Amino acid sequence: MPSHDPRTRILELRQTLDLYNHHYHVLDEPLVPDAEYDRLYRELQDLEFAHPQLVTADSPTRRVGGAPLAAFAPVTHTVPMLSLDNQEDLRKFHADVCKGLGGLFAGEVDYVMEPKLDGLAVALHYRAGELVRAATRGDGQTGEDVTAQIRTIRSIPLRLRGEGIPEWLEVRGEVFMRLADFEACNRLLEERGEKRLANPRNAAAGSIRQLDPRVTASRPLSFYAHGLGELRGAASPPDSHWDFLQALRRWGVPVCPESQRVEGIEGCLDFHRRLMAEREQLPYEVDGVVCKVDVFDYRKRLGFRDRAPRWAVACKFPPREAVTRVVDIAVQVGRTGVLTPVANLEPVSLGGVTVARATLHNFADLASKDVRVGDRVVVMRAGDVIPAVKQVLPEEGVVRGEAVVRPTRCPTCGTPVVQEEEEVALRCPAGTTCPDQLRESIRHFASRRAMDIEGLGEKLVDLLLREGLVHSVADLYRLQAADLVGLERFGEKSAGNLLEALERSKTIALERFLFALGIRDVGEATARQLALHFGTLEAVMAADGRELEGVAEVGVKVAARLVAFFGEARQREVIAELLALGVRPRGPEATREGGRPLAGVTVVLTGTLAAMGRQEAQRRLEGLGAKVSGSVSKRTGFVVAGVEPGSKLQKARELEVEVLQEADFLQRLREWETEG
Ligand code: IVH
Repeated sequence: MPSHDPRTRILELRQTLDLYNHHYHVLDEPLVPDAEYDRLYRELQDLEFAHPQLVTADSPTRRVGGAPLAAFAPVTHTVPMLSLDNQEDLRKFHADVCKGLGGLFAGEVDYVMEPKLDGLAVALHYRAGELVRAATRGDGQTGEDVTAQIRTIRSIPLRLRGEGIPEWLEVRGEVFMRLADFEACNRLLEERGEKRLANPRNAAAGSIRQLDPRVTASRPLSFYAHGLGELRGAASPPDSHWDFLQALRRWGVPVCPESQRVEGIEGCLDFHRRLMAEREQLPYEVDGVVCKVDVFDYRKRLGFRDRAPRWAVACKFPPREAVTRVVDIAVQVGRTGVLTPVANLEPVSLGGVTVARATLHNFADLASKDVRVGDRVVVMRAGDVIPAVKQVLPEEGVVRGEAVVRPTRCPTCGTPVVQEEEEVALRCPAGTTCPDQLRESIRHFASRRAMDIEGLGEKLVDLLLREGLVHSVADLYRLQAADLVGLERFGEKSAGNLLEALERSKTIALERFLFALGIRDVGEATARQLALHFGTLEAVMAADGRELEGVAEVGVKVAARLVAFFGEARQREVIAELLALGVRPRGPEATREGGRPLAGVTVVLTGTLAAMGRQEAQRRLEGLGAKVSGSVSKRTGFVVAGVEPGSKLQKARELEVEVLQEADFLQRLREWETEG
């Protein structure tokens, strides 16, 4: 039975939420559905709001809070944070270790082998188990206080769990971004028209060095511990690195699952070989391995040289770079008409995969690197799936080819290209009348994240186009078995499968359908917000710019794109055909129910909301049917004013719009939520 005493209940909730969090973020084994976590989280939030004296810094509700910092405060490391020497030859390292241990030593050395993660080193300070400070490495002596930013990383415990927690513990480790998170993050930034993150390392470092912790909170970061800084008041201090890592695991601190204790140099070499072979399959970017003497006593005997220990070394993998020659520079036309120069290469092995093409991003990049046909170039892969040309290697005495000329017409359909203000990209404005754009938009429409038409992959789309069987996405639903049987690699069965997959895809969530249409700048997140807000396709199509701007994730630019898209006769025609052929985009249940307490009400938030933060407030308001807008107008239902409200409060007063202070707002929020 849950306790009725708020103090006890708060403790119960924190313990439970910490446990769920640990299982979800550290062990990767969720214990409960997200909705259950959210329910308990809200209960805790409400209790803490009602009893502010019971709020503590280690509560799971305190991961994001506080206003942006003016600057990072310096933190002096009591034990310097060292760097690692690089050593290609692990046998040489082992020989040096044995020599360093001198005559005293006569057996095998145990090592701990770890992946060298490509991220940012940080130190976490735990006082009596509570995370009290986090700092970057900086120059090794002094780093920057990034406590507020580090607290947003869900896998880092705010409080250590279990037995034997020391009075003071400084854990060191790496903040990094997993490749899937990196790609998702870049997709999101692109959707919003913001700059992509260059590689996972910059992504991690750049996300921590954000003065506004809310920006850090929006970035999916991970952490693995890799070392001990300072330890005081431990009941049984570990005497080896491996034992220390095991203690961390028990206390709930994430430790890289690949790390291993091995015996002797052969074990080190085996690990190195294995990790290099598995490199491409790992969910994060690995630079190489780190080889560390396990036993602390031995480490003490080995000591340091300059700023690196003699007891550990980094052994880097060959970079995922290779040198090859450019055979040709082609121009690809993407789904939205963007022209991308692509280098066709003499095939070369790059991190174990043969590469014959690399992107040059855009014509500005191509011009600044001045890549020409016949050049010797470095190609690299840095987190991205698609390799890129990094630089040209000059060759003496070789006459180079001509510089590539920026195209003035689309290489596929001949339409004059355009370059929009503040954009680097050149575009073909022909839309789906351009064969390349048609092909890409059909591929996108059928893809897993869009209509998810199983079996309709890129090759099949090409085939259907070549055979003249489809001229638009609507034509997909006109396909008959007779059209397909007899095509390359098509029998009765495969034709039947495709038709079934098409049939299944007809019942589709509105958000996926909106995404599948391939409207410029409308990614999955925007599509979801549109679906949530409007509930039906008809409502989205009928909305004007102003209404669209009231939707989260939609700014002036995206609103204009939507209006333009749905205003085009051709697009309306294709959509009408899709509907007539039986495609049924279904809105989210909640929005279709209507009658929600704040349906049709526009709310504006201003200032810092101490109890929940703006994102959370927005989510809950939207859950009640409200529209959350960024600016106050006569049509605003009410304004919620937090701490240090901005000019919006002024505006609300001028326009006589109702203003709710945070406390009143929370009270009302609870009432609406119980009503709904
Ligand atoms: S141990 C004295 N272990 O590499 C030992 N470092 O050049 C210092 N790094 O600043 C660090 N993965 O950012 C260690 N498994 C690992 C690591 C690792 C990545 C980074 C770390 C450090 C740099 C050392």
